[in-house]
Parts: sequence; structure tokens; C-alpha cells
Amino acid sequence: MRRMVCETRLNAADFIYPIFVAEGNNIMKPVDSMPTVYQYSIDNLDQILPQIADSGISGLLIFGIPEKKDELATEAYNDKGVTQQAIRYIKEHYPDMLVIADVCLCEYTSHGHCGVVKGDKILNDSTLPLLCKMAVSLAKAGADIIAPSDMMDGRIGVIRKMLEEEGFIHTRIMAYSAKYASAFYGPFRDAVGSSGNLGKSTKAVYQQDPANSDEALWEVGLDLAEGADMVMVKPGMPYLDVVRRVKDEFKAPTFVYHVSGEYAMIKCAAAAGCIDEKKITMESMICCKRAGADGILTYCALDVARWLKEGYNY
Ligand code: PBG
Repeated sequence: MRRMVCETRLNAADFIYPIFVAEGNNIMKPVDSMPTVYQYSIDNLDQILPQIADSGISGLLIFGIPEKKDELATEAYNDKGVTQQAIRYIKEHYPDMLVIADVCLCEYTSHGHCGVVKGDKILNDSTLPLLCKMAVSLAKAGADIIAPSDMMDGRIGVIRKMLEEEGFIHTRIMAYSAKYASAFYGPFRDAVGSSGNLGKSTKAVYQQDPANSDEALWEVGLDLAEGADMVMVKPGMPYLDVVRRVKDEFKAPTFVYHVSGEYAMIKCAAAAGCIDEKKITMESMICCKRAGADGILTYCALDVARWLKEGYNY
């Protein structure tokens, strides 16, 4: 009876799995703050890609970690950069894999910010051309979807225009539209090596204030008007009210990013014997969908897909 009246269901296809690709050889380095998540070098990607391919999830989101970081994030738009090479590798060996490429400078900058820094300011408009170059370079490498996560104003419009001009008329844009200045990204910043570089400085000047939700609608509206195909709210669980408002207001494909800190909280509490990992994970996912998310980006994606295959019935 409960199955019959159940309003929300999980499918493997709801999920996207983020991966970290490090420049170098023979790397499979655990991310300390994210149990069972690793950085892989390209020659080790086959440790994870077959699992993703067999899981039935929709695809992966790729983050590259270059050896060399600099002020202007040069490696972000180097056609031979680690992310570009990894995308080419994936597309060559797993042509059916949907590849989403994160567009942001912070994995590539020596200061760890998502934009160009001058003194104590982030320069929005000087950042835009670099994001455009990065987007085109990733599309050229074979990315199916470009996902700008930098939160600079006006970037969706200029990236869309640049992609069109360069002939990438089929490349989709998934905009991190309502992205909050959140401490839940802490473990991710360890994973990509930006936390140490950021030091005490804050991303709150370009990411959203957790106190605001009208602002999220404003941001989503702008991104859709500028040409985004789909939008995202991030983090996930603490922001499900925002997901619901965005979905109700715009009816656009709406994704939610269940981020590194949320993942770490589940994994670490489970390892300490405080919670039931499987039940808490599945409940978290169904809550994201109930709130209105069409899809979920999560480091739990492969676990969830496996549990669904085993017949876990929420
Ligand atoms: C890059 C980016 C971040 C995340 C995704 N893309 C971190 C940040 O803004 O500092 C966070 C993902 C996670 O915590 O899992 N801008």
C-alpha cells in the first residue's frame, strides 16, 4: 500500500558522480576528509570509470587538479591541461559517458579564488573572458555539459555567446545558479587543494548569503535568461527550501548538489557507529527529490545506485 501511494522515487538516472582528476602519474590519493573518495591521475581513471559506466547513473562531473597553479589560472584554459586530457580520455574509452565539466578558476588559481584577484578585490568582469576560454577549451575536449560554478555575474550570457561563436551549438550549460558561500564545501577544498591557499579570505563577496532565498530566485532568473539549460542549487540538504522555490517558480530542470561536507558528515558519523549509513543516505536523497530536484550531484551516487540495484526500496 505504501508503495502504491508513494509520491517520489529514486532512479539511478537521477544521479551524477563528481570525480577528481590529478595531474601526474600513478596517483590514487585518498581525500582525507572524504572517506572512499580519491584523486585519480588519468592513467588510473580506469579504477573508477567502469564502476560509473556500469552503475546506471546519468554521468560524471569532472574537477581537474593541475600541478601548477597561478594567479590567472592558466591551466584552466590550456587545451592540453589535465582536465581537457581527462575528458578526451573518457570520451575515447567511454563514448557513451555523459561528461559534465565544472567551469571555475579556483582549482587552478594560486590564491584559491574563483575569479581574478587584485589587492583585496575580486574582479568580476576581468574573470569573464577567462571563464569563456575555459568553457570553450572544455567543450573542445568533448564535454557534453559545461557547469559554471564561479558565481561571477553575467558569465552564463558570455559563455553561451562564446560557445555559439566557436561552433559548440550542442554544448549544454548547467549553471550553478544559487550557490551559497558555504562551510559545507570544506572537504572539497581539501580535495582540490584550494583551502590552504584561500587562508582566511572569503568567497562571500560572490557566493550567496545563507540568510537569503529571494536572491536565489533572482540569480536563477538571470542565468536562465542568459541561456542556461538547467540550473542548480548548492549545497543540498540545508537548502531544500530554495530548491522548492526555484522549481515552483521556474519549472526548469533543477539540480541539487549534495556537497562534500554533507557527504563527510554521513560517512564520518556512520564510521563512528552513530548512524545507519544506508538509511540516512537514501533518506537524504529522497528528500532532495521530494523538494523538487530533477537530479542530484553527490559523492554517494555509486553507493545509491548499488543499493537501488540490490532492491533497496525507500
Ligand atoms: C568551485 C566549486 C566548489 C565546489 C564545486 N565547485 C567549491 C567552492 O566554491 O569553493 C564544492 C563542491 C563540494 O563541496 O562538494 N567553485
